[in-house]
Amino acid sequence: MKPRRQQALLLWLLLSSCVLTEAIEPISTTLAVVGGVAAMAKFYINWKNSECCQPAWISFNMTGLQADLDNKLFGQHIASHIISKAVSGFMSKNNPNKPLVLSLHGGTGTGKNFISKLIAENIYKKGMQSNFVHMFSATVHFPHQSQLLQYRSQLQQWIKGNITNCERSMFIFDEMDKMHPGLIDCITPYLDYHENLDGVSYRKAIFIFLSNAGGDSIAQTTLEFWNAGQSREEIKLKDLETVLSLSVFNNEQSGFFKSSLIKKSVVDFFVPLLPLEYKHVVQCAMAEMMARKMTPKKHVAEMMAKDLNYYPKRERVFSDRGCKTIASKLDFYL
Ligand SMILES: *[C@@H]1O[C@H](CO)[C@@H](O)[C@H](O)[C@H]1NC(C)=O
Ligand SMILES: *[C@@H]1O[C@H](CO)[C@@H](O)[C@H](O)[C@H]1NC(C)=O
Repeated sequence: MKPRRQQALLLWLLLSSCVLTEAIEPISTTLAVVGGVAAMAKFYINWKNSECCQPAWISFNMTGLQADLDNKLFGQHIASHIISKAVSGFMSKNNPNKPLVLSLHGGTGTGKNFISKLIAENIYKKGMQSNFVHMFSATVHFPHQSQLLQYRSQLQQWIKGNITNCERSMFIFDEMDKMHPGLIDCITPYLDYHENLDGVSYRKAIFIFLSNAGGDSIAQTTLEFWNAGQSREEIKLKDLETVLSLSVFNNEQSGFFKSSLIKKSVVDFFVPLLPLEYKHVVQCAMAEMMARKMTPKKHVAEMMAKDLNYYPKRERVFSDRGCKTIASKLDFYL
């Protein structure tokens, strides 16, 4: 018999005999120790993979954000510039004096959710999947006006609870235009310059509001530049600030309406997103193919872009859904 086999046989004899004899004691102790070590190893692995509020899981990659904004976001020179400056400035401070509050405005598919995702991915190792990134959507989380009071206290508790867990938390409010103004008011105190509220400091958190409000006016201004033969890149933030403020603050539908969010000027940056043209949709489609590790095919991208609807009726310059349906339609075109 080979030595291996002998050992195996011996072990088998020992084990089977152990069951019958007193020898069971040392063996079970050994097993318990082995089991304990395995349990500890498992615990260690779980512990190593479980996200915590530490630099290993949360650290800002400035070059990463800049690269993503340059390479993955199309047609948004103003937004790209503001986001990069705002987030880098905020994340480089160890003791910011207030949380970062961004309000992103633009039509469907212009990149509001996408920008939030890029920010999350360059701060949290787990990106949007992080336990420290919270997304609230008006129609999902707060659908019934009649429950406003309940929503208010719930939202306050969530924000307070989550920031108590981790100061570097991020909150994204989607569909702000569908949100009741009375709801948004309740978080205003957290966004302001406070050392702390009830012992909790909110100063390291990031709040991002996404809204379609102002999208039409932004599109109108962009069209005026286009009609005047001026390049889109010549549009400056100040060209949009007035139209943005008029349509956001004075619009009853906007969720910001008469909100203390505006009165107290707690929003640090209003970020306009321009409507996207045909060439940007082509870029989105190419980028989507690359993201899926495929060889990007220009003719497929162009075909996809051609099948979208463009407005206004006469000029047909801007895609009415931006790049929104590109990712989901790609399979169909390939
Ligand atoms: C930051 O992002 C860049 C570009 O995406 C990447 O090459 C680099 O590895 C990232 N750094 C860290 C520390 O994750
Ligand atoms: C954090 O926010 C989530 C909603 O995103 C909520 O379900 C959870 O209860 C909050 N956690 C705490 C500790 O309040």
